[in-house]
Amino acid sequence: MKILSIITKSAETKSAITKMAKEKRTEAVEKLHQMREKAKLGGGEKRIKAQHDKGKYLARERIYLLVDSGSFEEIDAFVEHRCHDFGMESQKILGDGVITGSGTIDGRLVFVFSQDFTVFGGSLSEAHAEKICKIMDLAYKVGAPVIGLNDSGGARIQEGVVSLGAYADIFLRNTLMSGVIPQISAIMGPCAGGAVYSPAITDFTLMVKKKSHMFVTGPNVVKTVTHESVSFEDLGGAETHAVKTGVTHFACEDEKECLMFIRKLVSYMPSSWKEKPPVKKPTDKPDRAEKSLNTIVPEDTTRPYDMKNIILLVADVEDKASSFFEVHEHFAPNIITGFARLDGMPVGIVANQPSKMAGALDIDSSVKGARFVRFCDCFNIPLVVFEDVPGFMPGTYQEWRGIIKQGAKLLYAFAEATVPKLTVITRKAYGGAYDVMNSKHIRGDFNYAWPTAEIAVMGPHGAAEIIFKKEIDASKDPKKALEEKVDGYRRKFANPYSAAARGYIDDVIEPSETRAKLINALGILKTKCDENPKKKHGNIPL
Ligand code: HXC
Repeated sequence: MKILSIITKSAETKSAITKMAKEKRTEAVEKLHQMREKAKLGGGEKRIKAQHDKGKYLARERIYLLVDSGSFEEIDAFVEHRCHDFGMESQKILGDGVITGSGTIDGRLVFVFSQDFTVFGGSLSEAHAEKICKIMDLAYKVGAPVIGLNDSGGARIQEGVVSLGAYADIFLRNTLMSGVIPQISAIMGPCAGGAVYSPAITDFTLMVKKKSHMFVTGPNVVKTVTHESVSFEDLGGAETHAVKTGVTHFACEDEKECLMFIRKLVSYMPSSWKEKPPVKKPTDKPDRAEKSLNTIVPEDTTRPYDMKNIILLVADVEDKASSFFEVHEHFAPNIITGFARLDGMPVGIVANQPSKMAGALDIDSSVKGARFVRFCDCFNIPLVVFEDVPGFMPGTYQEWRGIIKQGAKLLYAFAEATVPKLTVITRKAYGGAYDVMNSKHIRGDFNYAWPTAEIAVMGPHGAAEIIFKKEIDASKDPKKALEEKVDGYRRKFANPYSAAARGYIDDVIEPSETRAKLINALGILKTKCDENPKKKHGNIPL
């Protein structure tokens, strides 16, 4: 009996202990849930409402729109700042103004940080920067893109120099990871002061019209220093940076479009320099012939046409739309840059645009083209060039701003690129610009010309005027003499065959078969292996 009572008692104690442990565990889990909910509240209801009232999404909402549904894994939600000045010790907010973690885009891993403007205006503290650096380090180690959604008042003023050092920690990583993993910056609100330099180092920047601003110093400082009156929008809005400065590659209509553009961008690039870009199952015929290409170049060689129409006809059609995705559409439109797919394979397109400045290369277009070429080369994306270029833009404006060294950037970028490189000359390939635009001489792998191509030192008119000047001046009818000489020069050089005779052009092709030729060339070059001489790094003319 006594033994039975002992057993019963010990069983009761055991069950009481288990119940207590269960309750305790529930309490602990409950606390975790409470903490998570608290972290989600960021700077609180009032500031959340203010953010929504401005027509802006919250940092977390942006992440959910960006990554595949249910894929976001947050880390460091419980991080707090460590500042004890200006009463900050009593104002700690879980997460400290930035949400960090990983997720997937179309099933592929990406790392994301999203600044929370409701927490101290998304300003960057030491702890906030550590969170960003942590995901950057992870992304670097595993080989995955980093996407930064910026919405911040800059350095956390209360932390002083500590926040400046914290910015530098990010800049260093942006630089060291450049060319290792893709880095994309979306500016969803303010981005001022030194904070602008992180996006500037990353590969692509996107801004939202009327919602985001980037400047080194704001309108008030500008007024004080240079006495200029300028609005936020004019100084550093999305359209200013998309059209005038080229600081942003995309000026998006709204936040949703911005986040969708990031998803699209990522679809063309590999996760790191060690990988090839992701090939999509093609839905378009590789040998699709486009008869309309045979007549797309006007017979009058001085007449413009839209090179984009050629690109759209050649690129894969996916879901009834062209796979061409233009980058830097509004900056230096005399050169076109963007991604497309050919038989599912991502390619980087660089093309002269004869409908803008006759397609001449100037400073902005050279720099735009060079940066794009270098991105593609970093990440194993083959380059396809469509060429119709009358030369470099003449004039004091260009010369005095350094067209020599700026144009050299594009030349350098094409020359150093080791990815598969294809060129199609549709019409003009004149002068130095012929060399620059991925010519055979700087390692173009397959260089094609359409029968309408003119490959020469300059246009027939200019050439005849110079080399036959004395004869023309001495003739009884200089106008007629010039016409004859122009005609002679045109017959000799204003065609693709002089270049083809020397092998500077691999083939003269019927325009309608361009797509098939390019896809075939890409297939041949799948295993291309080319290297530059061993060195610390080159010295691109900056
Ligand atoms: C701490 C900041 C802050 C900052 C804003 N806040 N910026 N807190 N450090 N840098 C806080 C505000 O006190 C406010 O807190 C909340 O964020 C929202 O700010 P508002 O001014 O009410 O919002 P808004 O009117 O939308 O104006 C946004 C703003 C403005 C344009 C960004 O706040 C601003 O001008 N901030 C300062 C910008 C700046 O000069 N930063 C330093 C740049 S120099 P409450 O509690 O009221 O919600 C720099 C150097 C980096 O960044 C160097 C790296 C090399």
